[in-house]
Amino acid sequence: MKETAYKTQWKYLIDRLENEHDLTDEELKAVLLCDAPGFDEYISGKARKVREAYYGKDVYLRGLIEISNICRNNCYYCGIRSGNTNCERYRLSKEQILSCCDIGYELGFRTFVMQGGEDPFYTDELIVSIIRDIKDKYPDCAVTLSLGEFEKESYQKFFDAGADRYLLRHETADKAHYEMLHPAEMSFERRMQCLRDLKEIGYQVGCGMMVGSPYQTTEHLVEDLRFLQEFRPEMVGIGPFIPHHDTQFADHPAGTVDMTLRLLSVIRLILPDVLLPATTALGTIDPRGREKGILAGANVVMPNLSPSDVRGKYLLYDNKICTGDEAAECIRCMAMRIASVGYETVVARGDHAGFGTK
Ligand code: 5AD
Ligand code: FES
Repeated sequence: MKETAYKTQWKYLIDRLENEHDLTDEELKAVLLCDAPGFDEYISGKARKVREAYYGKDVYLRGLIEISNICRNNCYYCGIRSGNTNCERYRLSKEQILSCCDIGYELGFRTFVMQGGEDPFYTDELIVSIIRDIKDKYPDCAVTLSLGEFEKESYQKFFDAGADRYLLRHETADKAHYEMLHPAEMSFERRMQCLRDLKEIGYQVGCGMMVGSPYQTTEHLVEDLRFLQEFRPEMVGIGPFIPHHDTQFADHPAGTVDMTLRLLSVIRLILPDVLLPATTALGTIDPRGREKGILAGANVVMPNLSPSDVRGKYLLYDNKICTGDEAAECIRCMAMRIASVGYETVVARGDHAGFGTK
């Protein structure tokens, strides 16, 4: 092969990924590992072109309400795992959650994300009644849940009450790797079953993984990409692993900005119309991480809408940003950051292209 042909072979791989949304495992691995000069500019340029074809310059806002840091699980990487006795626990009442939505609506949010640990205080009935109240008051808003694993019947009840979307990261598509990150009580099969149940019910479903989680290999990431390609989620949440000092992974290195950005671009090319957030974790390991995420093909940001007095307690990892800000300040700051890279935060539900208003 001629020297020039060899040097530009990676461009051919990216072009094929853009056109066919697919590569072989070996090729995906080569894309993840390539260190050729110009590679990142080229792939992020393609990812932006694809995202702009579907979503223009719009960046969707999600108001994140962290409803509880009480969790029955003990994921080894997570700061709010049940075994962490140093974590100061809280949970929000229904009234507090609704008042976050009131503030959020005024600020222009049209999606509310209720995220929390697996806290048994929130019975199916309570969750249903919170969803109903939000939907009654704000019928033009989408409700996203991120509350962990439930039986299919419960997911169905939440959907029937009006929930539109569900975020449940798969964390890793490799069973053996899943078991290195979670205690024996947690099951890879159950996680995958939950994701299938959510899809069958009709939610817009989000899955995702941490980048650079302990023991993760490039092969694992290729498995994750293959899983995303087959499962076809409407949303994919990825962010770097960041160690939390009160976990057994305290001394493991954090994932890198560069690998996270590259994966955002690859995911955009595999699933062109996917809703892809530039996450808080990305903004935590790099002060301009979220802006860089948008430039790598992301089209969603999730500013924090939780009441200021609990923000500092929902700490999944160390040094989390935006823990001291009021919601209003956070959204202003976000709008400015997004505008600084030539994009625009919009007041819209921001559904996946394949879904309308329910
Ligand atoms: N670093 C980065 N992300 C984390 N999460 C949990 N703990 C950490 C950590 N230490 C992610 C998980 C979870 C999501 C809510 O936050 O992927 O699904
Ligand atoms: Fe929260 Fe900037 S986005 S303070």
